[in-house]
Amino acid sequence: MLLRQLFDRETWTYTYLIADEESGEAMLIDPVIDQLERDIKLLEELGLKLVYTLDTHTHADHITGSGLLRKRLGSKAVTGAHAGAEGADLLVDDGSRLKVGSVELEVRSTPGHTDGCITVVTADHKHAFTGDALFIRGTGRTDFQQGSAERLYRSIHDKIFTLPDDTIIWPGHDYRGMTFTTVGEEKRLNPRVGDGRTESEFAEIMNHLNLPTPKKIDIAVPANLHCGIVPPSSMSGDPLPERGWAAIERSPQGIPEVSIAWVAKNKGAVRMVDVREIDEAQSDGKIEGVDVVPMGTVDEASKAWDKEIPVITICRSGRRSGRVALELEKLGFKRIASMRGGMVAWQSQ
Ligand SMILES: [Fe+2]
Repeated sequence: MLLRQLFDRETWTYTYLIADEESGEAMLIDPVIDQLERDIKLLEELGLKLVYTLDTHTHADHITGSGLLRKRLGSKAVTGAHAGAEGADLLVDDGSRLKVGSVELEVRSTPGHTDGCITVVTADHKHAFTGDALFIRGTGRTDFQQGSAERLYRSIHDKIFTLPDDTIIWPGHDYRGMTFTTVGEEKRLNPRVGDGRTESEFAEIMNHLNLPTPKKIDIAVPANLHCGIVPPSSMSGDPLPERGWAAIERSPQGIPEVSIAWVAKNKGAVRMVDVREIDEAQSDGKIEGVDVVPMGTVDEASKAWDKEIPVITICRSGRRSGRVALELEKLGFKRIASMRGGMVAWQSQ
């Protein structure tokens, strides 16, 4: 079995590549959307075919690469049956088995950090990929996303600490530069759940961590519930043609713009993005079906948008939406335009 630990510096996330060298079949555990090109290049270099991506849970700190990898490489997206994700190709639960060539893996349900957390263990019990259930001398947090210290304690003790002491633990994150550990080591040394700590001692520790909310949670969780590709909520109609899709006029600043009349007619065929602040869109009214994505968060949110779906940006007067349209054009969105005159003009019509 080939095994590689890959790291995303921005979110301290470990991605794991597991492959059967003989058949060339491979799986990525917890791929990060920002590392898509790195991961594809490595697969190519090693002559591997990606058959599965597996998300150990619905991540709050990064967007999964599973949806885009499926698009690019034809891999199947696997998630836990209780993760609540839509559009996964395969749902696994406690006791499920997966085969990557001749490599056999078993799934253990380890809720507590989230309801849908799973741990993946090789059939020989040599390696366990624990996601955000168990870290090196730590655990996943339990203070949001259905987190429960009691459930996490039980998961770790019943599903991970029951593995042999020499099983290698590969965590979903590490924030101190550590890479892996073993079951025996964590049973002895984990300051939260090891060394004889009781369930109530663990709950006491977890309830007083006072951690900040992850920066990307509002974008990452909704995206990850759709394998990292967010469907536009405004779309209902037939797709627009690829060329000549809209009556675009460039402003003197080079901003691609469409008229209000065009938007009124075609809004069911595009992703409509209102870039005003959330309270602004709430108090001043918005167009039905738009997604409100404040200007400062568009960069991150747009990672989870299919670049082939046209995007119309909207704001109060058309200034911010124009800037965002140019920004998205630079990011590779080819069918992008700002609604000229913004909501002021829309509401006066
Ligand atoms: Fe997590």
